[in-house]
Amino acid sequence: MSDDEPRTADEMAELFDDKPRKRSEYAELLEEIRLLKNEREREKYVRGDEEAVRRIDEQLRPKLRRREELHRLFRFRKTVPMRWVHDASPDDIRAAISAEQLIKVAQADDFHRRNALLLGPTKVGKSTALALMARRYILGGGDLVWCYSRTLGGAERRHPLGQDEPEEITKAKAARVLVLDDLGQEEHRDQGTILDVIHARYEAQLFTWTSSGLTYQQIGDRYGEHFARRLVECRGTAGRMVEAFPGRLH
Ligand SMILES: Nc1ncnc2c1ncn2[C@@H]1O[C@H](COP(=O)(O)OP(=O)(O)OP(=O)(O)O)[C@@H](O)[C@H]1O
Ligand SMILES: [Mg+2]
Repeated sequence: MSDDEPRTADEMAELFDDKPRKRSEYAELLEEIRLLKNEREREKYVRGDEEAVRRIDEQLRPKLRRREELHRLFRFRKTVPMRWVHDASPDDIRAAISAEQLIKVAQADDFHRRNALLLGPTKVGKSTALALMARRYILGGGDLVWCYSRTLGGAERRHPLGQDEPEEITKAKAARVLVLDDLGQEEHRDQGTILDVIHARYEAQLFTWTSSGLTYQQIGDRYGEHFARRLVECRGTAGRMVEAFPGRLH
């Protein structure tokens, strides 16, 4: 079990506060698994009935699978801050993305083995495309960190002086995949933090999926060309870039 899997009733309530049915499904499932496991122990060590153990294992398997599915669903809800996508179907999510190129990037087979840089005007669906990618990644068993550039950028300032690096920054540097939403919205004085995180991730060859209202050219002008390139390239592989600005979709 990873650390961020729900375990307590409080965590369940927080994650599914509007979903009592899911919550009780989970609680019932845990109880069923507990009872079956007890029964299995009894059959195995008290009665030594191998056939009974096999039958119980068959009953357990789909329940353990369902528990894992629910854990992934919880992880998705906990990780992606856009609440409206939590219960939306993949079709509903796609419908909110108005640039076809963004959908293509989010649906590519190898989306999890490349960087992505999604650029375009407000409301075109950049964050929604990131949410679609995060959904696929997490429900497929992956784990990622999602940060708003503005929040991540300010992490250093919110941190008491003289202490180690803020946890948010350490996590953003080390995550297997980092979603950096709305690059360019951080305060000017916080740009160094964002540069630092992206540099560390590039060195560690970790994938980053970024969205921004800036063009690629503007990113280069503001943060330097090296930085811009690192948002696209990783592990010697070109990531996917979409510039969904009217008249320059490519
Ligand atoms: N709460 C919501 N419920 C349903 N649909 C929503 C909701 N919020 C956003 N959307 C849909 O998602 C579309 C794309 O929004 P999204 O936030 O992905 O755009 P964006 O490109 O990230 O914009 P920005 O640059 O402002 O962050 C919206 O136009 C809207 O149709
Ligand atoms: Mg957005």
